[in-house]
Amino acid sequence: MMIEMLTDYSRIVVAYDHSELSKKALKMAMNLAKQDTHIELLVVIVIQPDRPMVYSYGYAFEAYHKKQREEVKAVRNELEQDLKSLSNKTRTYAIEGSPGHMIVEFVKQNDADLVVMGSRGLSGLKELFLGSVSHYVVQKAHCPVFIVK
Ligand SMILES: Nc1ncnc2c1ncn2[C@@H]1O[C@H](COP(=O)(O)OP(=O)(O)O)[C@@H](O)[C@H]1O
Ligand SMILES: [Mg+2]
Repeated sequence: MMIEMLTDYSRIVVAYDHSELSKKALKMAMNLAKQDTHIELLVVIVIQPDRPMVYSYGYAFEAYHKKQREEVKAVRNELEQDLKSLSNKTRTYAIEGSPGHMIVEFVKQNDADLVVMGSRGLSGLKELFLGSVSHYVVQKAHCPVFIVK
């Protein structure tokens, strides 16, 4: 079904924040990729360095950044292990900035054909509404967005 809209050399971007739904999104995207080895899978994590709470304490800020870098590294290693099960071209990215904006930019710059992401992420209560990042990406992305719930 879904695969019919994907042509050769399709590029799928997964927006990954390590939440359960982003894991589900990754699994979904990997299943799509398995249908055709020409599909490329790009997994992007957006790091937010500007958490105001931590800003006011110089030391805490540095420590926070160090911890954040280590966590991101661990998550990327884990992702890369998972992605090894595919014969497709895959790559993980960690970029900094505002998640919604950076995902849309990333998708555009990489000329992606599809974005796969969760309806909610790490911060959300289980509400009826989309999270702010998924909402933003659906509104602004130039390509179709597959929202996993
Ligand atoms: N920092 C991020 N980096 C990459 N993807 C993200 C990030 N934040 C959110 N996402 C993607 O957006 C989905 C929805 O998250 P979000 O809109 O932030 O909801 P919530 O408000 O519940 O946190 C996540 O499942 C994930 O796929
Ligand atoms: Mg979130």
